[in-house]
Amino acid sequence: MAHKISSLNGDFGIMIEGVSREDLLSPEFKQQAHELWTEKGGLIGLRGTDLTQLTSMELMNWSAYFGDVDHDNFVAREDKKVDGLPILRIGNTRDEMGKSNSNFSKVPSLRNDSDMRYNPETRRPVWHTDSTFRREPPIGSVFHCRKAPPSGGETLFADTRSSLKKLDQKKRKKLEGLEAICSLAHHDKKISLYSPGYPTLNKKERAANPPNRVPIVLNHPISGEAAIYGLNSSTCAIVPKGKKVSDSELNFWDLEGQEDDSVKTLRDLLPFMTGPDFTVKWNWQEGDIVVWDNRCTMHAATGFDDKNYIREMWRLTLLQSHLKEA
Ligand SMILES: [Fe+2]
Repeated sequence: MAHKISSLNGDFGIMIEGVSREDLLSPEFKQQAHELWTEKGGLIGLRGTDLTQLTSMELMNWSAYFGDVDHDNFVAREDKKVDGLPILRIGNTRDEMGKSNSNFSKVPSLRNDSDMRYNPETRRPVWHTDSTFRREPPIGSVFHCRKAPPSGGETLFADTRSSLKKLDQKKRKKLEGLEAICSLAHHDKKISLYSPGYPTLNKKERAANPPNRVPIVLNHPISGEAAIYGLNSSTCAIVPKGKKVSDSELNFWDLEGQEDDSVKTLRDLLPFMTGPDFTVKWNWQEGDIVVWDNRCTMHAATGFDDKNYIREMWRLTLLQSHLKEA
């Protein structure tokens, strides 16, 4: 079947339309999609009426071409798995007993496109790179739409490769010498401050999940291109590479949920990084599959009228495939 291929925002992002389930099995199609994904800054969307019939196993197989599907990220979320597979259901769906069977987080809807840009006062939208606190942070994710509201619920993506390129040399040089300290304990404590009841790590869990350090300028292992990296709610400090931090500093970040002032190094760049030159708003249609690369993009969720409409998304997390990238 002939496909229509279009760019989403200049060099960033690509959409292939007219995609069928059979295409997803074709080695040539998979290779082409992977190449476009890498070339176009780690964002590809597939669309096609046939994709509304996609099965969970077909999605698993497609995703495995981009990375190793993460099986271990479902602590306390077993009931939100699709067909018992490592696919997380996200949205506001309920099972036949009326019990929620999806992961739901309430976030504001966009009023207009200028709301896409990060607002330092509201700290919205929550632009981030996933799970940098993990020792091997996920390389990306696959998102598939089963049910979309008529409006809202868009996913926003930012090209952190191009924003790095547009920074002046002095700023870039400075970022190249820095790394982010990312901690799960800090993340959970921070969330608990505005979502009372959100579980925080106990002493043993905290010891089992020490902070991870990631570079602020990350070189992509496949494309070789550098991109800005390392910001999410687990980012507690930004320090010169290799700099030691004291236990009392770490305790403050982890136990009080307070972010070190140094995180502003990145937060202050966010309004620039999330401006119209670097961003894409993906309006979901049923059947759509989007694959994003955490190593050169950031993303953010937007809200929808969840009282009147159902949204159901399936999400897989991708880990580095040691075979493919060795
Ligand atoms: Fe995310």
